[in-house]
Amino acid sequence: MSANKTSAAKPGATQSKTTSPASQRVVIFDTTLRDGEQSPGASMNLEEKIKIALLLEEMGVDVIEAGFPIASNGDFEAVREIAKLVKNSTVCGLSRAGRGDIDRCWEAVQYAARPRIHTFISTSPLHMKFKLQMSPDQVHQAIIDSVTHARNLSPDVEWSCEDGSRTEHDFLCRTIETAIKAGAGTINIPDTVGYAIPEEFAALIRMVFNRVPNIDKAIVSVHCHNDLGLAVANSLAAVGAGARQVECTINGLGERAGNAAMEEVIMALKTRQDLMPFATGVKSEYITRASRLVSAITGFVVQPNKAIVGANAFAHESGIHQDGMLKHAGTYEIMTPESVGLGKSTLVMGKHSGRHAFKMKLQELGFEVGDNAMNEAFRRFKDLADRKKEVYDEDLVALIDDEIQHGQERIKFVSLQVIAGSRGPQTATLELELDGKPLIATTTGNGPVDATFNAIKAMVPHEAKLLLYQVSAITQGTDAQAEVTVRLEEDGKSVNGQGADPDTLVASARAYIHALNKLFTKRAKTAPAAMSA
Ligand code: KIV
Ligand code: ZN
Repeated sequence: MSANKTSAAKPGATQSKTTSPASQRVVIFDTTLRDGEQSPGASMNLEEKIKIALLLEEMGVDVIEAGFPIASNGDFEAVREIAKLVKNSTVCGLSRAGRGDIDRCWEAVQYAARPRIHTFISTSPLHMKFKLQMSPDQVHQAIIDSVTHARNLSPDVEWSCEDGSRTEHDFLCRTIETAIKAGAGTINIPDTVGYAIPEEFAALIRMVFNRVPNIDKAIVSVHCHNDLGLAVANSLAAVGAGARQVECTINGLGERAGNAAMEEVIMALKTRQDLMPFATGVKSEYITRASRLVSAITGFVVQPNKAIVGANAFAHESGIHQDGMLKHAGTYEIMTPESVGLGKSTLVMGKHSGRHAFKMKLQELGFEVGDNAMNEAFRRFKDLADRKKEVYDEDLVALIDDEIQHGQERIKFVSLQVIAGSRGPQTATLELELDGKPLIATTTGNGPVDATFNAIKAMVPHEAKLLLYQVSAITQGTDAQAEVTVRLEEDGKSVNGQGADPDTLVASARAYIHALNKLFTKRAKTAPAAMSA
């Protein structure tokens, strides 16, 4: 479909206004795939972005900002594919104020059941003078042109005043009024540099409601960065002042110190209904799964004491606390682990479970696995059940994720034998398949992981630099599966690979091979230089 064929003039295509200050419903706008991906090292490939988008849809996120289509062919493709697949959430693409950006954005989002163009321009004196080198009047005209053009293409347009929190009030009100007149249904006020403090930010939002005459025709949104650790506090203060869309990311991923963390916004609203009687459409039970998925894909570890999703968020170590918990969970727990999807791990199956039960279990976990992948997954499940006393849902999810990720690759892991311990040299014998051809190498290294990675390098020579090697346990106990993330960099491009196995070294080899396969794919599709918002 060409950009010209579909326009906002579609019969009945008026902007759906789901919420207003009078309503208690807060729209959750997730930008993990756009602002989150702008974190250095957090780049994701198409399959990974789709996987995250589908989970966000399933968890009830209202708007998914899937990328910045003009930034690269990869970004464009991801936004377009997500637009085609997601049915229940609005799919949004970011664009600067130029027509070319907006057209490219529409080209990608037009396939969505609910498409949105999100266009932005800076409005603060500092940004206008030094970044844009435009006068306020020129910026004002650019807003009229960009929002009008976007609205001619898309029934749903969001406009952002970049660096809004440092914009002069008179100019902020003038530009917001103009953007609404030009057709923007959502006005986003970002604290782009994470400079605001909650009282001040709430006052800014109140000022906008008091002074912009047509503000009732739009939803006011906020987009807060975390440079002072106040992104969530500022977002909640803004909601108290009338904002009804919060832009956020899973695990607080995003430029520099990140964005407001979605899990914190959701759980704060849910836990403090007494003071913040607002509703969202997000099913909080999905939070842990989303956090783990984003962490595994990006390789960004969640700090143990991170609110809501840190490993210690629901752990009670001290005797006094444990004693209190035994008497009444409310003594030290303000929300239940189950409410964020951290219920007791369920024992699923053992080594006697058959193929049918295995398939049913996968369906229950939301996986539809093809016949080939099923054969291999079942073989690996049997192997896992032989080696591990108890197989949990999390183990199966990791195993299937691993199988899906590694199914189509040029380099395939076959087997690994390692000699480790204090009496070196540590030696790895690794068997691979490269484009279907069997290869084997035995190498030594400075430790078993190094020996394993050297074996890969011996069979698949490459210059990529290892930037990150991270191991975490999927469940508890010494027989838990290890989940390994490896980040490789070549020619300034970095990729993350993941691998899971009860043997940490096998998981490491799988993760390295996964990353290398992704580098091969990246080499094959050379995209134009990326840019950031
Ligand atoms: O931080 C910011 O101002 C942004 C805008 C593009 C919304 O990310
Ligand atoms: Zn941002």
